[in-house]
Amino acid sequence: MITGKFPSLRLRRNRKSDWSRRLVEENNLTPNDFILPVFLIDGKNKKQPIKSMPEVYRYTLDKISLVVDKAIKKGLPMIALFPYTERKKKNALGTEALNENNLVCKAIQLIKNRYKNEIGIMCDVALDPYTSHGHDGLLKSGYVLNDETINVLINQSLLQAQMGCDVLAPSDMMDGRIGKIRKALDKENLKNVQILSYAAKYASSFYGPFRDAVGSTNSLKGDKKTYQMDFRNSNEALREVSLDIKEGADMVMVKPGMPYLDIIKSIKEKFKIPVLAYQVSGEYSLLSNAIKKKLVKKDVIFESIIAFKRAGANAIVSYYADRLDKIL
Ligand code: PBG
Repeated sequence: MITGKFPSLRLRRNRKSDWSRRLVEENNLTPNDFILPVFLIDGKNKKQPIKSMPEVYRYTLDKISLVVDKAIKKGLPMIALFPYTERKKKNALGTEALNENNLVCKAIQLIKNRYKNEIGIMCDVALDPYTSHGHDGLLKSGYVLNDETINVLINQSLLQAQMGCDVLAPSDMMDGRIGKIRKALDKENLKNVQILSYAAKYASSFYGPFRDAVGSTNSLKGDKKTYQMDFRNSNEALREVSLDIKEGADMVMVKPGMPYLDIIKSIKEKFKIPVLAYQVSGEYSLLSNAIKKKLVKKDVIFESIIAFKRAGANAIVSYYADRLDKIL
């Protein structure tokens, strides 16, 4: 495959000027490659900073157009909604997830009413924003129950889909949930609601700032290692993905992002399915704080995001997505 020999071949020749580098570039980014996470909070007239994530905010519903307008103007195809849930609304069963007046449901309706199909809405399917113990499912003797949790996730999925959510993103890692959710959606004639499976989601310490953003840091007891994947494994990610594809996933997510580029690449090569990467909160905080402290130049953002494309990702969930013009 590699032909030619120095000195007749000089790879530096194609790098000699900016136009030439642009001419031979193999990867690039456009706004279509990004999904912007949006944090929601109860109340009025608030755009609330998140301490561990510089320049990321939680929005009350009356302020949501600040961020949605911006996302549309920048040409982003989709936003992902995440609720900060007050402690008093949490319980062991996470019943707030099924409240048709919860923050996510209200936000979906509001955005779909106001913006129609100008932008896609993606919602997590998982119970962790709503459970008092901070786990993604129902807990019994310290173990997250699989099949019982799926029954709740089905209802959460149906509810969010009925409210107008375009893409359901189960992020809970229960076995078999994609198939059950797909079947339930089809039965309710919600055949065109897409499923983006967080298929390869690792038990990671890079989620720290996110749990702060949604208010689950203090509630989480223990870790999520009995359901999220062991980061020593890669074959297991392929098994997860192949099952989810068989069960009806339209797209799959790899999460976290940058430490898992090898996983993105092998999924893309094996399955040829749309693969999304999630540049998670910990990655964002590390980069942003290092830039703030002038340890590195802000070019590290572009460099780290293009790595996802090089690895084969179709799109990237990134907290930088609303500031792309400053980055790209
Ligand atoms: C919830 C969920 C998490 C993230 C997205 N959805 C946290 C977790 O699983 O504990 C993390 C996102 C981020 O860190 O940016 N299931």
